[in-house]
Amino acid sequence: MEIGFGSGAFLLEKAVSAPQHDFIGIEIYVTGIAKLLVNLISKDNAAELSVTNVRVFNKDAKSVLINNIPPGSLDGAYILFPDPWHKKRHHKRRLINPEFAGVLSSRLRAGGSVVVATDSQDYAAEMESSFISAGFVSDSEELSDVDRTTYALKALKEERPLKVYRFVRGKCNPD
Ligand SMILES: C[S@@+](CC[C@H](N)C(=O)[O-])C[C@H]1O[C@@H](n2cnc3c(N)ncnc32)[C@H](O)[C@@H]1O
Repeated sequence: MEIGFGSGAFLLEKAVSAPQHDFIGIEIYVTGIAKLLVNLISKDNAAELSVTNVRVFNKDAKSVLINNIPPGSLDGAYILFPDPWHKKRHHKRRLINPEFAGVLSSRLRAGGSVVVATDSQDYAAEMESSFISAGFVSDSEELSDVDRTTYALKALKEERPLKVYRFVRGKCNPD
């Protein structure tokens, strides 16, 4: 699953490279959904490669996780550069918090993982404490392929360092 896939380039690349897996994308930005769908049916790439392993929700991620995804059913999730909401009074709008991490945990299988990336140092700390409090274990695996999304390239161009984490759901789910 990719949550907040933007224009969908990363999700499409993953789906093309792993046709044996099924992918779910969630995005509230309708223009991003349209871009992904156009690329999925474009003659230049997806149609010729017969990409049939992507499903898309145009809805809020938390509501999709709660209402459309059975518990323990996901192998993994990517949340790449969720909106940082830099102003302190807007931090409550941030997608990742302990409650969201708990909902995501309940939808992952034991041993499933979530990869998160951000260029906001304080959001990185919030992400880490949210996932740890939801029973995830931090994994230090080298993650090199998430720094090519539209947002990552913009952050790197503006010389903001990226933080990338992988959190693994333990066998014992607190939920
Ligand atoms: C900063 S952009 C990053 C997009 C892309 N992942 C990238 O790295 O280029 C954050 C994305 O998350 C989406 N988003 C924000 N809140 C969301 C929510 N509650 N559910 C699903 N998508 C959401 C936004 O529409 C936006 O496309």
